[in-house]
Amino acid sequence: MRGGYDHFMMKEISEQPDSTFNTMRGRLDFKNKNIILGGIKQYLTSIRRSRRFQMIACGTSYHSCLAVRSLFEELTGVPVSVDLASDFLDRSPPIFRDDTCIFVSQSGETADSMQVLKYCRAAGCLNVGVVNSVGSSISRETDCGVHINAGPEISVASTKAYSSQFIALVMLALQISNNVIDNKQRHEEIINGLEEIPRLISQVLEKKEEIKEISLKYLHGKDSMLVVGRGYQYASSLEGALKIKEISYIHAEGVQAGELKHGVLALVDSNMPVVAFATQDSFSPKVNSAIQQITARDGRPIVVMTEGDNLIDRSKTSACIEVPKTVDCLQGLVNIIPLQLMSYYLSIAAGHNPDRPRNLAKSVTVE
Ligand code: UD1
Ligand code: F6R
Repeated sequence: MRGGYDHFMMKEISEQPDSTFNTMRGRLDFKNKNIILGGIKQYLTSIRRSRRFQMIACGTSYHSCLAVRSLFEELTGVPVSVDLASDFLDRSPPIFRDDTCIFVSQSGETADSMQVLKYCRAAGCLNVGVVNSVGSSISRETDCGVHINAGPEISVASTKAYSSQFIALVMLALQISNNVIDNKQRHEEIINGLEEIPRLISQVLEKKEEIKEISLKYLHGKDSMLVVGRGYQYASSLEGALKIKEISYIHAEGVQAGELKHGVLALVDSNMPVVAFATQDSFSPKVNSAIQQITARDGRPIVVMTEGDNLIDRSKTSACIEVPKTVDCLQGLVNIIPLQLMSYYLSIAAGHNPDRPRNLAKSVTVE
């Protein structure tokens, strides 16, 4: 059942070259640079009329929404709000009939997300699901949607569902905005990038042993750590930190690099482990300056960086994990792999069962 792996979590991490491909299969025409999401085709006109997209999710699924938010706004020109389902319920904010609400959930059964869906149905907006489990409550009760087709996810910690949700949401943004002529070049760039993603994920998976060694040398036995990123990589920091918390029980905080100076920097010294996402994109100068703020306080970060990048001063890092470069808005799909692997190896090293983290359930069906 575990296909030769010791744990479902490692099986699911390793499946990502296939699961990400399956999310795109039959939907993306790489040759003609075209996209067809059968599940939303009939609703496209209404979706395109929306003046606001409201995304709702919990945990890892919430992070996949954050990962695509700026791309959604860039391509559609429509503002996107992203809310945790529990916080949305606490606020009960106004929802307009011409809003499109997007519910992202692996299980399709998460109680808080379902409650928000009921609220949105009553408000009369269009509700779109991005769900893994076919036939689940959210899949049935949304007006339309996209199944992410990642295959069953057994391990409590979500890994392959994250990358497939991320891709399904990128495809949704492409589908909604493919009537805008100005987007043509960017669309082609992203579709070409998506075609390469399964191969790039395989390349990072080949670095398993290196990532294991780095994790054991610099992070095993620590009580606390920071995971820093900004722009497209802010979601990677939050998701990376969540994986480490839930599987290895090390306190990990995902930090937006621009916020370091606003408080978090007080924690940085030679004893505070830091993982920093510094792959090349338009935010690199700002990220590199954040790394300098850390190293100036004797922090020695583990840096996830673009292969061959010589702008990072390696002498001031604990280690560098080189990953292949892709399109800026897809880089998070590649960057999250080392953090998923780190959380797995740290969990095993601490003697825990990564498939069954204490106090957690796979499907959270109570509020
Ligand atoms: C569908 C078939 C797929 C087939 C393909 C062939 C299913 C589940 N999928 O895939 O097996 O190979 O056609 O063209 O039968 N939906 C929601 N909410 C959600 C998710 C989906 O309402 O959260 C709805 C969609 O609007 C759609 C249906 O479920 O009506 C299937 O969605 P999806 O599997 O994404 O559609 P296709 O990719 O077209
Ligand atoms: C973390 C994790 C959880 C889920 C969250 C939402 O690894 O798995 O944070 O992402 O409970 O669950 P779904 O996506 O089923 O709504």
